[in-house]
Amino acid sequence: MITPKSIDEVKAAARVEEVLGEFIDLRRAGVNLKGPCPFHDEKTPSFVVSPAKGIYKCFGCGMAGDSVRFLMDHEKLSYPEAIRWIANKYNIELEETEVSEEVRREIQKKDSFFIINGFAQKLFQEYLLKTNEGRAIGLSYFKERGFLESTVEKWGLGYAPEDRHFLFNELKQGGYNLELAHELGLLKENRDFFHSRIVFPIRNLSGKIIGIGARTLSSNKRIPKYINSPESEIYNKRKTLFGLYFAKTAIRKKDTCYMVEGYTDVISLHQNGIENVVASSGTALTVEQIKLVKRFSENITVVYDGDSAGINAALRGLDLILEQDMNVRLLLLPDGEDPDSYVRKVGHTSFTEYVSENSKDFILFKIDLLLKEAGDDPIKRSKVVKDIVESISKITDSLKRNEYVKLCSRLLDVPEITIQKEANKLIKQQINKKSYSSPQFEKPRSEAEWDKDPKPNKQQSAIFDVNSHEAQERDIVRILMTLGDNFIDESKEIRVYDYVYQAILNIIEYFDNELYVEVIQEVAKAHEKELVLTPTYFLTHPNEEISQLAIEVNSDKYYYANWKSRGIELQTQAMPKDNYINDFTQSILRLKSKKLQRILEENQEKIKSISPDDVDELRIKLKVIMAIKTDLAQINNLLRNVVL
Ligand code: GTP
Ligand code: MN
Repeated sequence: MITPKSIDEVKAAARVEEVLGEFIDLRRAGVNLKGPCPFHDEKTPSFVVSPAKGIYKCFGCGMAGDSVRFLMDHEKLSYPEAIRWIANKYNIELEETEVSEEVRREIQKKDSFFIINGFAQKLFQEYLLKTNEGRAIGLSYFKERGFLESTVEKWGLGYAPEDRHFLFNELKQGGYNLELAHELGLLKENRDFFHSRIVFPIRNLSGKIIGIGARTLSSNKRIPKYINSPESEIYNKRKTLFGLYFAKTAIRKKDTCYMVEGYTDVISLHQNGIENVVASSGTALTVEQIKLVKRFSENITVVYDGDSAGINAALRGLDLILEQDMNVRLLLLPDGEDPDSYVRKVGHTSFTEYVSENSKDFILFKIDLLLKEAGDDPIKRSKVVKDIVESISKITDSLKRNEYVKLCSRLLDVPEITIQKEANKLIKQQINKKSYSSPQFEKPRSEAEWDKDPKPNKQQSAIFDVNSHEAQERDIVRILMTLGDNFIDESKEIRVYDYVYQAILNIIEYFDNELYVEVIQEVAKAHEKELVLTPTYFLTHPNEEISQLAIEVNSDKYYYANWKSRGIELQTQAMPKDNYINDFTQSILRLKSKKLQRILEENQEKIKSISPDDVDELRIKLKVIMAIKTDLAQINNLLRNVVL
C-alpha cells in the first residue's frame, strides 16, 4: 500500500495542465486553459483547466476533478494506479507499507484467478487460430458468421477442443493451481468444463477476464446452446455486463447505451461500428447492471428480438430502472431478427436510424402492452392504471414525472388530476419509508462561481457540511472493514461487527451513502451465517468500489498514526487498533447523535404542517418528538462523559 506521505507528495507534484495535456489539446484562455472535452462530443471547447487550483471542469457535461480524478475517469485507472501513473511521470519514488502475510495471500489468490483465466483464454484462442481442429471447426464457424479475424483477436475469442483433458493437462504442466481452476469452473472433476465449443471471454470493467461463455456448434437440441462459468470470487453475474470494457468510452461519448441479449449481438454490432452496446447475457437486468451503465450515461435503449422472453423480464424490472432515474427506451426488432442478424442485413447507418425512429419510451411501451392485454374489461383496465401509476411514482425527477402524467392521462383516458393524486400518494409512502436518505439537490454552478470557489471533490466537501453525515457514516464503515473481525471480549463469542451491526440496526435505513449500506449489508449476511469477514475480505472484494473503499479506510487509519507521530493527540488516546472498543463505541454514539438530530428536526418540521384541530395527530407526533429528545439527550450525555 502506498503511504499517505507518498500520495501527498505525488499530488503536490502533479501539474494538472501537464497531466491532462498528455490527452487533450489545451489552449490558454486568460488564467485558465481550455480544450475540447474528452468526456463528451462537442464543437466549441467548454473544458476548462485551472493550473492555479490544480483542477478542471467541463461546463458542457459537468465532469470535474483534479489530476488523479482525471486519470481515474479518463483512463479508468484505480486510485493507486493513478497515483503510480503520476509518480512515474514525475520520477517520484513511492514509499509503500508492508502488507500483512494474510493480505498478500488474498491478493495473490485474486491475481492467480485472473492469471489462470487469462492462461485458459490464450490457450483457447491459440487452439482456434493455430490447430487444424480449431480452424476447421471454430474459425470457419466465426467466418461463416461474418466475424473478421481482427474481431476474433480484439474480443479474445477461442475454441475449446473436444479433448476433455486439453486444458487440464496444460494447466498441470504449467504448474497452475488446479484447485483454483476448479473454483473458477474451468475444470470439473479434473476434466475440462468447456469442450467442443467456441468461447467468449467475459471481462470486468478493467478488462480482466472473470469468466467464460461458450457456445456449442452442435445442433443437438438436448445440449444447452450456451454454458457459462459459474460465479466465483471474481465473477458476480448480477454485476457484470458483457462488453462494457470495450463499450464504455463509446457509451460516454454517444451518451447512450444499447442493451442487447447475446454475446454475438454485442460483437457483431461493434464490428459494424456501433460500439456503445453491452449484453445482459441472458439474465434479467439487475439494478447493479443499471448502475454500471449509469456511470457512463443515463440513457439506455433495450434492443431485443421481437419474440424475446427477455422483454417481460425487462418490463418487470422497469420500476427498478426508473428508480435509478435512467431514461429507458425499448426497441423490438422485426420478427425473426436479432441485433446481430439485423445489423448484418441493413448495415450500421440504417440500424441506428431504425433504432432511433422505432424505439419507444419504456413506460409508453408498457401501457400499450398492458392495455392490449386488458382489452375492454373495466376491472383489468383499472388494474393497468394502478400499475402504470406505480411506475410513474418511481420517477424522481418531477418535471419528467409531470410529462408522464399528462401522457398517461391521454393514453389511459383518465383525468390528469386523478393520476397525479394517486402518484403523489405513493410517492409520500415511499418518502416515509426511506425518509432522510434523499439526496441533496445541487444547483448548477456558473463558470464565474466555480472560479471563485471550486469544489471538485464532493466527498471531501461533504465532510465539512454540517448537514452531512459522511464522516460519521464512514467511521462506522472504517471500523467494520478494518477491525470488525476482532473479538469484543475474552469469551470470543462476539466480534466487533456483530456488536456494531446490532447497535446501528435501526438507523441503517437513514444512511446517506449507498456504498456504505452495501458494506453493512454484507456484514449483516456474515452476521447471520456466522462467517468471518477479515479486512482482507474487503481489500480483495470483487466489487471494485468496495475494495477501493477498503483501501481508503485502511489508509484513514494511517492518518491516525501520522497524527500521533506528529504529536497531535487523538481523541481516542491510543491508536484505534489498540483501543478499538473505545473507538467504535464513540463512533456509534456520534453517528446516532447525528441521525437522531436530523430525525428530530424533520419531525419538528412535520408537526408545523399538522392542522391545530387535528388533536390526535398532534398528540402522536409530540409523543414521538419527546421520545427522540430523550434518546438524543442520553446519547449526547454519554458523548460528553467519555474521556477525551
Ligand atoms: P447465436 O445463436 O449464436 O446468435 O447467439 P445469441 O447470442 O443470439 O443467442 P440467443 O439470442 O439465443 O441468446 C441470447 C443470450 O442468452 C446468449 O448470448 C446467452 O448469454 C444466453 N443463452 C442462450 N441460450 C442459453 C442457454 O442454453 N444457456 C444459458 N445459460 N444461456 C443461454
Ligand atoms: Mn443471434
